[in-house]
Amino acid sequence: MKGIILAGGSGSRLRPLTGPLSKQLLPVYDKPMVYYPLSVLMLAGIRDVLVISSAQHTGMFRALLGDGSRLGLTIDYAEQNSPNGIAEAFLIGADHIGDDDVALILGDNVFHGPGFSHLLQSAVSALDGCTLFGYPVTDPQRYGVGEVDAGGRLVSIEEKPRRPRSNLAITGLYLYDSEVVSIAKNITPSARGELEITDVNNAYLERDRARLTRLGRGFAWLDMGTHESLLQAGQYVQVLEQRQGERIACVEEVALRMGFITPEQCYRLGLAMAGSGYGDYVLDVAARHLASAAR
Ligand code: G1P
Repeated sequence: MKGIILAGGSGSRLRPLTGPLSKQLLPVYDKPMVYYPLSVLMLAGIRDVLVISSAQHTGMFRALLGDGSRLGLTIDYAEQNSPNGIAEAFLIGADHIGDDDVALILGDNVFHGPGFSHLLQSAVSALDGCTLFGYPVTDPQRYGVGEVDAGGRLVSIEEKPRRPRSNLAITGLYLYDSEVVSIAKNITPSARGELEITDVNNAYLERDRARLTRLGRGFAWLDMGTHESLLQAGQYVQVLEQRQGERIACVEEVALRMGFITPEQCYRLGLAMAGSGYGDYVLDVAARHLASAAR
């Protein structure tokens, strides 16, 4: 499966933080925002990632992530220069996807919860068409909203409905088979001139090929479009990291756990950041792996 991180947009609701800076590079406590969606793709077992951003910001993403090889990944870059909608990612990324399945994740989404990597990996291996993730929220009218029947089957999806039929927001993580490229090519832009991801999802639903996995109690799904939500996400991460001593979305640790890099490689990545709490954590994680391998 291939991965796409959509990190476009002008971040207008976060001005003046954004402008010269991409929203998805802003700090979320101890790391850049894009580490959170990147770690989700990595936990799903994905090693081939396309980062889509505006031309103005591509250089900064490249400076941060490079070609991905230090994390055992291949990372490529592409541009989305106009707000043509989330589903344009499949047109921009058509060559990257090829005949493969693909996971699309929005660059400002944080997912965190017990058993998430297991849940992701089983969703990837059971994929048949399209898998969406639903999360109960108090303000569903801000999101795509999924309605499920008594048996948990997805029966409707509406984009930002005035009267939501459920409280289940469709999160910004989407799994598709390779047919998504031709489906995206055939949808018509919405009234606001965008290729809507909800129209792609509805095309799968009409073919009875869309499933919804619920992310329930005890799970955190946060998006970071505003100053308040950006700070809240940072505080969430800080509280958990300081209490438990384990970092969320530490991409070096995820790469090590997933077997994409060796403990020695991880140690070198930590050394390059030594002196920061984050770098010392990476060193510690690598040292623990080396010690347990020596035992
Ligand atoms: C987009 C999607 C929406 C989804 C949301 C998740 O909305 O259109 O269906 O629920 O992302 O973050 P946007 O953030 O572009 O308003």
